[in-house]
Amino acid sequence: MTKKIAVLAGDGIGPEIVKEAIKVLNALAKDGLDIELEYGLIGGAAYDETGTPLPEKTVKISKEADAILLGAVGGYKWESLDISVRPEKGLLGIRSELNLFANLRPAILYPQLADASTLKPEVVAGLDLMIVRELTGGIYFGQPRGIRTLENGEKEGFNTLVYRESEINRIGKVAFDIAQKRQGRLCSVDKANVLESTELWRETMTTLSADYSDVELSHMYVDNAAMQLVRAPKQFDVMVTTNMFGDILSDCASMLTGSIGMLPSASLDEDGKGMYEPIHGSAPDIAGQNIANPLATILSASMMLRYTLDEPEMADRIEKAVSFVLEQGLRTADIYSDGMTKVGTIEMGDAVVAAL
Ligand code: IPM
Ligand code: MG
Repeated sequence: MTKKIAVLAGDGIGPEIVKEAIKVLNALAKDGLDIELEYGLIGGAAYDETGTPLPEKTVKISKEADAILLGAVGGYKWESLDISVRPEKGLLGIRSELNLFANLRPAILYPQLADASTLKPEVVAGLDLMIVRELTGGIYFGQPRGIRTLENGEKEGFNTLVYRESEINRIGKVAFDIAQKRQGRLCSVDKANVLESTELWRETMTTLSADYSDVELSHMYVDNAAMQLVRAPKQFDVMVTTNMFGDILSDCASMLTGSIGMLPSASLDEDGKGMYEPIHGSAPDIAGQNIANPLATILSASMMLRYTLDEPEMADRIEKAVSFVLEQGLRTADIYSDGMTKVGTIEMGDAVVAAL
């Protein structure tokens, strides 16, 4: 049966990198992948055309699709807009509308890129870690929020960090299930020494662990986790954490792998339907120059085949093709090192297609 994919390219480098991932999917279509693409607007591009960063139509086609492929949103152009219509609201809005509460952010070091990391090769060699980030709750969505003026005329900004047991439980289950299929180690990251909402997080994870006797659960404060990620990242198998901590730690983890331009992600709902996107942003400073790394988006397409479209062999093929082009020494600027062949966005996409 034909699978529908909603394609939301977004802003900045979004359209360029998504184009390369589509090229890869179309190449697989020649080998029997049965897909139909529908394009939608999101972010600043959507605001410019419709006055909102998340038009109704985009929500509709995304809800109707089997999976969503997203580029990136945001850019200088829209930074002065009211926060309610900024491009980022489009992204947060679609995550929330589609109930994509489980964000999987794998950080895998391709052996070919050990030199591209700013960390010593022996610290990162063989790294394979999975960050499971809660994506539709926490301080990103908590109410009340805003900027108010106090009686003395001073302004005050405020946000709310809230987590319900049910929200912690459902993300916890996803993380335990993943740990079960990997090395069986789960580290839950919180700030339980200071924040009650994450004290409940810790308690709930501990209770849940009774159902997973084959998974070894540990807890870590987020400040220590950030330190441990750069000190000895290979101690981790799976990490599970809140929306904001996961945002921060996944950027940190990306650098272990050489470049944020390498990391894909999946955001899943309760039924495994998902949105797939690189973890990096829209990089407006390099947009339109054919220098962005399309591999994170191409690898996001591979995650889509694996997690939502049930095509694990095709997913394997993409991952092997990526590994092969790295083996050949092809590098976009972000992962370039001496002796390698520097290529642009389009050339990298072509090389992956050829390697398929
Ligand atoms: C990410 C991004 C987003 C987030 C922004 C663009 C809203 O940083 O996906 O990590 O904070 O979740
Ligand atoms: Mg982020």
